[in-house]
Amino acid sequence: MISLSDFATTVALAVSILFVSRFLWNYICSPLKSFPGPAATSFTNIWRLRDVYKGRCDITQNALHRKYGSAVRMGPNMLSLSDPNLIGQVYNTKSPWLKSDMYNVNDVVVSGMRLSNLFSTQDEKWHSTFVRPINSLYSMSRVQETEHNVDITIELFLEKLRVNFVRTGKPCEISDWCNFFAWDAMSQATFSQDLGILEAGSDYKGFLGRSNQTLDYFASICQVPLLDCLLDKNPIMRIGPPTFVWANIFSLEKLQERYQERSKNATPKVDFLSKFLEIKEKNPELVDDNVIILWLLSNVLAGSDSTGSTICATIYYVLKKPAVYKKLCTELRAANLSLPAKWKDIQGLEYLEAVIREAMRVHPGVGLLLERVVPKGGLTLSDGRFVPEGTIVGMNPWVINRDETVFGANTDEFIPERWLQGPGESDETYQARFKKMKSTDFTFGAGSRTCLGRHMSQLESFKLIATLFSTFDMELPSLDHQWQVTNSWFLRQTDIPVRLMERQD
Ligand code: HEM
Repeated sequence: MISLSDFATTVALAVSILFVSRFLWNYICSPLKSFPGPAATSFTNIWRLRDVYKGRCDITQNALHRKYGSAVRMGPNMLSLSDPNLIGQVYNTKSPWLKSDMYNVNDVVVSGMRLSNLFSTQDEKWHSTFVRPINSLYSMSRVQETEHNVDITIELFLEKLRVNFVRTGKPCEISDWCNFFAWDAMSQATFSQDLGILEAGSDYKGFLGRSNQTLDYFASICQVPLLDCLLDKNPIMRIGPPTFVWANIFSLEKLQERYQERSKNATPKVDFLSKFLEIKEKNPELVDDNVIILWLLSNVLAGSDSTGSTICATIYYVLKKPAVYKKLCTELRAANLSLPAKWKDIQGLEYLEAVIREAMRVHPGVGLLLERVVPKGGLTLSDGRFVPEGTIVGMNPWVINRDETVFGANTDEFIPERWLQGPGESDETYQARFKKMKSTDFTFGAGSRTCLGRHMSQLESFKLIATLFSTFDMELPSLDHQWQVTNSWFLRQTDIPVRLMERQD
């Protein structure tokens, strides 16, 4: 009879042979063999996972594209593309290319049932059924209906900065406070109630911490989605960090609170939840409470860290460049805004717009490859190379937004002037250049799965930046001070101690 140790050795050997054959198969038979890239990527996706895990895959990917050109092999069946001319094809709206398996790592399992959300679903039909009823709520004109909610949060933000930092002279870790603002503002706009994070001055409920852990898991594991079946989605025993299930529970609690308020005939609120419930009343056959939760989750999960990161990056870059700081403050002070700045009053402030556009370009809030599956018929690259059906391709906002043929020279640098008409530049040339930059900017993705909340995040960022720089004088410990940045799907910054003073003029 075979002993236990012999059996274990045989199994280990069989598994090793299986893996080695699979790696060799990947290497020898892949139709992507001719595409350049790091050698290890021909065998396995683990190289990519390791790189993302280290926290700055955007730097690696930019370096790889500089070395290897516009199509770089990132895995046995995966290419990173950097040619902006392909955006319209890969991320088209008419017959959308399917999202890859990376996204369904973002699903949650509740009571044994796997639940997708608007971001994670690979089913385009399901997606369009459930996004269609709410799409118009996120247009620029409709998100302004929640401007009062944003104003409440901005006022609270200013008050807390005054109490904790202006009056005490202590430096403010602005990365934390931008996130506190973004989480409370999104919750205000969604439920007419903030999360109490600004009030507490800390992540007292652990939402931000849990969200970071979940994103760390998502960012790395989605590079090898199969691992998710062994970890978070393991049917026998779940292994891994907290999932987004807390957000489902939180949204459900808020929904129940709203039903109770309604049964007591409380004054109706103007927020996303009210609008979702109105849609439910008009479409009872399509919308039930599960769909309301699905919609709430888009705001709760996708709308906070991303916006916080953008606001934080804008402040940091402006403080690093005294000339930009001066020009922005001069424009804002000349506008003599009533504060919190109203959206209608900041339209036409060209430098403010250039500053925020440039901060988003150089430091987009999302930093991984947005993967899609090449459909039937394949993809022919601009240089004639062919990518077969079934290959996973992706573009990274951090790579696309640095394309010098579109955005001009020195794309690693923060130069708001690139969005303005240059001296001697004709109106026609400028309009064409601006249009090209605007349509290529990949900060919010593109096509049928482009960011749903881009206008909401713009409303928040423009208003907050205009108000903040109109209210306080701010400085870093020195102009050489360097922040710390981690790319974990969203970009996370730390170490930005800012001294805040009441504006003197
Ligand atoms: C500066 C802030 C933001 C950035 C940089 C950002 C970025 C993105 C990007 C790049 C995508 C596309 C993902 C892909 O194709 O794989 C996306 C999708 C999405 N975003 Fe945002 N986002 C921001 C703010 C928001 C806000 C405020 C909301 C909600 C109010 C939101 C809700 C969503 C949703 C629901 C999707 C999935 C869309 C779909 O698949 O149909 N985002 N976002």
